[in-house]
Amino acid sequence: MNELRSSWIGRIGDASDEATLEELRVAALGKKGEISLKMRELGKMTPEERQVAGPALNALKDEVNAAITAKKAGLADAALDERLKAEWLDVTLPARPQRVGTIHPVSQVMEEVTAIFADMGFSVAEGPQIETDFYNFDALNIPGHHPARAEMDTFYTHRAEGDDRPPHVLRTHTSPVQIRHMEKHGAPCRIIAPGRVYRADYDQTHTPMFHQVEGLVLGRDISMANLKWVLEEFYSAFFGTKVKTRFRASHFPFVEPGAEVDIQCSFEGGTVKVGEGDDWLEILGSGMVHPKVLEAGGIDPAEFQGFAFGMGIDRIAMLKYGIPDLRDFFNSDLRWLKHYGFGALEVPTIHAGV
Ligand code: PHE
Repeated sequence: MNELRSSWIGRIGDASDEATLEELRVAALGKKGEISLKMRELGKMTPEERQVAGPALNALKDEVNAAITAKKAGLADAALDERLKAEWLDVTLPARPQRVGTIHPVSQVMEEVTAIFADMGFSVAEGPQIETDFYNFDALNIPGHHPARAEMDTFYTHRAEGDDRPPHVLRTHTSPVQIRHMEKHGAPCRIIAPGRVYRADYDQTHTPMFHQVEGLVLGRDISMANLKWVLEEFYSAFFGTKVKTRFRASHFPFVEPGAEVDIQCSFEGGTVKVGEGDDWLEILGSGMVHPKVLEAGGIDPAEFQGFAFGMGIDRIAMLKYGIPDLRDFFNSDLRWLKHYGFGALEVPTIHAGV
């Protein structure tokens, strides 16, 4: 009996994996296992023999079972130790650098502009970037022979050979959205239309694609005074300081009267500072919507009137963030963004001064 015991306990101790342990269990305690067979032999023994062998065999069976269970747990612990050793983490290692995306300053400024106008009750309208020349020009009182067409350095698309319809254009301004909005929603209205526009021009202050935001307010008694208030309110909120405006009479075919608007600034020390000093910086075009434009949009000029303005978003972004060259905005090398303090986690808050 002792031999039997030491042989099984020894083999269990030597087992190196669970599968071996299972084989040993079957060989010892399974139906035809060595210990099971021995127990069957008890029936052939004399009562005296059985009284000694019975308890001994039962104890052996329990002992072998317990040894297998203990060995199994030991193997599992060892496996876990192995894994922990392989998967340990050195928390003192320096972190891997993460590449963080940043919001493009133009997108950021678009959002700032939209939020400020939203506070004044404006909603956002949109239109296509590839326009018909009707919406981009004719409906805005810029007929075919008008010099403004040439002035705007328009990009034209090509028609197929034999197609005599006028070509589409890449919209040269956001003003066509005025017409599209009037046609669809009529008056009164209070909208801005931010978006991309295109002109064949390229230098320090011009890129062939740039951004504008159009404004259109129509009502029964909307006046230039409302325009001036809205613009001063906007610029003061945008630049975070009280900004005065100056209106200069100017000509745009789609407004009458028309005005170019300057904002107060200082050029002292070689940098532009908005909202202080005695200088003026031209910033947008505006005016009272021309009756012909209202008519083109399906609105009766005898009943409704209003103002419109169009301003360059890139321009005001450059001013607010001190970026000297417009072309930098659309450069493929975006390291400069960091240089100007743009980070995904540090979006400047707006609404100062509102
Ligand atoms: N569309 C004009 C431009 O791009 C700006 C403008 C808009 C002027 C609305 C007057 C009224 O220059």
